[in-house]
Amino acid sequence: MAKEKTHSIEQGEAQDPAEELASLVGALRTHLGWLTERGVPYLPAAPSPRFSEPVAESVAESVQAPDVAPANAPTHAHARPVDLSEPRGGVSDQTSSAEDLATLTSPGVGASGLARIRECLGDCHRCGLSQDRVQVVFGQGAPDADLLFVGEAPGRDEDLAGEPFVGAAGKLLTKMLKAMGFDRDQVYIGNVIKCRPPRNRNPLPEELAGCEPFLLAQIRAIQPKIIVTLGRFAAQALLRSDESIGRLRGRLHSVVLDGREVVLAPTYHPAYLLRNAQAKRPVWEDLQRVMAWLKEHP
Ligand code: URA
Repeated sequence: MAKEKTHSIEQGEAQDPAEELASLVGALRTHLGWLTERGVPYLPAAPSPRFSEPVAESVAESVQAPDVAPANAPTHAHARPVDLSEPRGGVSDQTSSAEDLATLTSPGVGASGLARIRECLGDCHRCGLSQDRVQVVFGQGAPDADLLFVGEAPGRDEDLAGEPFVGAAGKLLTKMLKAMGFDRDQVYIGNVIKCRPPRNRNPLPEELAGCEPFLLAQIRAIQPKIIVTLGRFAAQALLRSDESIGRLRGRLHSVVLDGREVVLAPTYHPAYLLRNAQAKRPVWEDLQRVMAWLKEHP
């Protein structure tokens, strides 16, 4: 008996139902693969929630807001969150004084804790970066911010100004914040490394290890709800991972500090965006995921 033919709306021609089913299953598999790569572990039942028009408009100017994948898809990558209180392997002696910061700052003490950490950091000469830098760039913003941005290290503009993210990448970060509905003074902005590496070279592992305790102390004092890491180094440092930023971004992670869980959202560095316009779309997806999470956790 001849097989029954059905009508394919897209192609306008009759198709064998078995073939059609096989092709639908194939398309569904491809789509699920696409979603999984982007950190969405399920098939969204409804279109992704969109953010308010002013936000969408402002981001269109700054990061060219595209149509995005579901923003409400927080997926925690690790079943067991990374515990940042556990000492790292291979940490140098320099950190011992910084580890004392844990006793200097109590969780959530905000401004007074940050002031103590700044005092302890002083005119830091704990590593070779002090030879070429102009000054320590500590961090800036609300001492009790819900949202903390962590970059890599100061560049030339930041080294001269003594403030993080004030150069070209910083201006883009400010626009990204605006698109999210924040001013710079409503969030906290810092770096893993507090001194400019010469000629903006990548930080060395010992420099990262030496400076990280100060960042952890800042996180302890601020107690943000969510941390957005900008670029590879910050994500790898706080997730204790050597995965690429391309693999780490696109989903929410958890870290634990002093028994308190903090959500972490890695995304590309704004300096990378300045060179790669096509990265604006995934960054905006990441930022929307953060906004959705904050909305759900007021
Ligand atoms: N890049 C960073 O990672 N941090 C800054 O403060 C400036 C540029």
